[in-house]
Amino acid sequence: MKVSVITISDRASRGEYDDRSGPAIETILLAAIDGCVVTRYIVPDDREEIEHAFMESLGADAIITTGGTGLSPRDITPEVTADFCDRLIPGIAEMLRFESFKETPNATLSRGTAGIKGNTLIINLPGSIRAVEFCTRLIAPILTHAIKMVAGEGH
Ligand code: MTE
Repeated sequence: MKVSVITISDRASRGEYDDRSGPAIETILLAAIDGCVVTRYIVPDDREEIEHAFMESLGADAIITTGGTGLSPRDITPEVTADFCDRLIPGIAEMLRFESFKETPNATLSRGTAGIKGNTLIINLPGSIRAVEFCTRLIAPILTHAIKMVAGEGH
């Protein structure tokens, strides 16, 4: 399974702080999924840069983003993702918010979405290290089956 992990953060992309969330997603996926190969990107909260990273990642089975899902004016990850996708998968984001709410009520502030572009599954995660550790563990068990379905392989 090929996964592209895209960290979406102005400050991380400028090197003002280390991206810890992208590497955390990679570590959890590599431990959870046999044969998983991860490529990582870091881009600012900029529509063109995010779309460019999505285009570069279309050979992957899945794209997992971290960051830019909240309420600040620069948080545009969900809008860019929804515009880029052919179809949305509401249940993934609903499950992440539902489960995360048990950890923190602030989970409701993440507007992340999920969908499909061509044969690539795209899932938004929030930006914090705590959130990605929690949410990556939630999506890891469904990734293999979801990717097979997206590829038209059936059950
Ligand atoms: N989800 C989990 N599981 N754990 C968290 O700590 N933080 C929340 C939320 N989702 C959080 C979470 C907070 S504080 C915010 S502001 C939103 O994700 C949006 O984060 P983002 O703008 O970094 O994407």
